[in-house]
Amino acid sequence: MTFVPEGWHPAADELNGKTILITGAGDGIGKAVALACARHGAEVLLLGRTEKKLEAVYDTIMTEELVTPGIIPCDLSQVSHDALCELGQELGSSIDKLDGLVHNASILGDRKSMAQTSVATWNQVMQVNVNAPFMLTQVMLPLLHAAPEASVVFTSSGVGRKGRAFWGAYATSKFATEGMMQVLADELTNTTKIRVNSLNPGAINTAMRRMAYPAEPPTTNPDPEALVSAWLYLMSNDSAALNGQALSVQS
Ligand SMILES: NC(=O)c1ccc[n+]([C@@H]2O[C@H](COP(=O)([O-])OP(=O)(O)OC[C@H]3O[C@@H](n4cnc5c(N)ncnc54)[C@H](OP(=O)(O)O)[C@@H]3O)[C@@H](O)[C@H]2O)c1
Repeated sequence: MTFVPEGWHPAADELNGKTILITGAGDGIGKAVALACARHGAEVLLLGRTEKKLEAVYDTIMTEELVTPGIIPCDLSQVSHDALCELGQELGSSIDKLDGLVHNASILGDRKSMAQTSVATWNQVMQVNVNAPFMLTQVMLPLLHAAPEASVVFTSSGVGRKGRAFWGAYATSKFATEGMMQVLADELTNTTKIRVNSLNPGAINTAMRRMAYPAEPPTTNPDPEALVSAWLYLMSNDSAALNGQALSVQS
């Protein structure tokens, strides 16, 4: 791992006292990151589309007697700015700060050429991967400002840093994600304690990867649980100096 200092290991209580919201927390990388954050002491707020999956993560955390998490069922493909403002108000009455925001939920859309990509697919991918993270970040800023040190992570992709044929809407959404990260990091640097970075997970064995590469044996790539220390580091105060960086989990 390139940005996690060699030999860095999270302490058992690394994230004690922190509240961290993770989108797409019911499956794949988001689920592994949410469980890892909870196992290192954080209160995690699990946002996702499928309530049953969020409840399963909640149950695991409760069975392990960790800090009680919150569940936020939310379909980012449908959510309006008003609904997210309401969510911000509700959260503001139950928590006094937000220490971490992991924008992880994304959709792949169709693996088609630009010529064949439908406008409906394009708009849906942009809504989930770009518009929703923009609106959610905006709504969460007051709670992020209230934290002594806050960390926002936008999840990117290799195709969000170098375009590739047939990855149209998804790749373009990840370029937008990188742009959003850079603009926000630049706005918040020096004057706030909020740091903002993007993270490219690299190939990881999840439903999305299996959908993108149906012919690839799933065991080709690591499971998300094997790589969670990158996210733990970004949520820990140890990464306080990192801001505005396009980071990669796997080199
Ligand atoms: N896996 C890789 O190899 C890889 C590589 C590069 C980048 N990434 C990025 O890593 C992130 C996580 O991907 P993953 O591989 O873990 O994918 P995944 O297994 O497909 O998980 C995606 C998560 O996002 C949630 N989600 C999707 N649409 C949503 C919506 N409309 N509203 C709310 N939640 C929604 C899903 O919820 P449901 O389960 O309820 O559908 C799921 O929990 C993504 O940003 C992806 O672009 C992954």
